[in-house]
Amino acid sequence: MLHYALEYNDLVNEFKKKVVIEGTPIMLALLADKVYAIQDKCTHLGGSLSKGVVENTEVKCRLHGAKFDLKTGNVVDKAHIGFIKMPTKKAKTFRTEIVDGKVFIEI
Ligand code: FES
Repeated sequence: MLHYALEYNDLVNEFKKKVVIEGTPIMLALLADKVYAIQDKCTHLGGSLSKGVVENTEVKCRLHGAKFDLKTGNVVDKAHIGFIKMPTKKAKTFRTEIVDGKVFIEI
């Protein structure tokens, strides 16, 4: 089911943003005219991915450096403290759709 998330122009101005849909925090990012949606809660210890760093089509959690692919949610780099890597699960991603300047997320 599609849920309204925000105005497309809000993303143009801020490039990444957190929204809460049906009680689920989701990070949206606008990259090369495509809108990606991924669970905002890091699968490691729940850090907010929208406060992390987005590069190419990946987001890096600022707490322990876990890196996720925004397209698939796959783990690109596990969480780590120093050289010690910690188990990190795949993140959930969501399909997005833009209709009349509004961004919708399928949940
Ligand atoms: S909470 Fe995100 S890497 Fe630890």
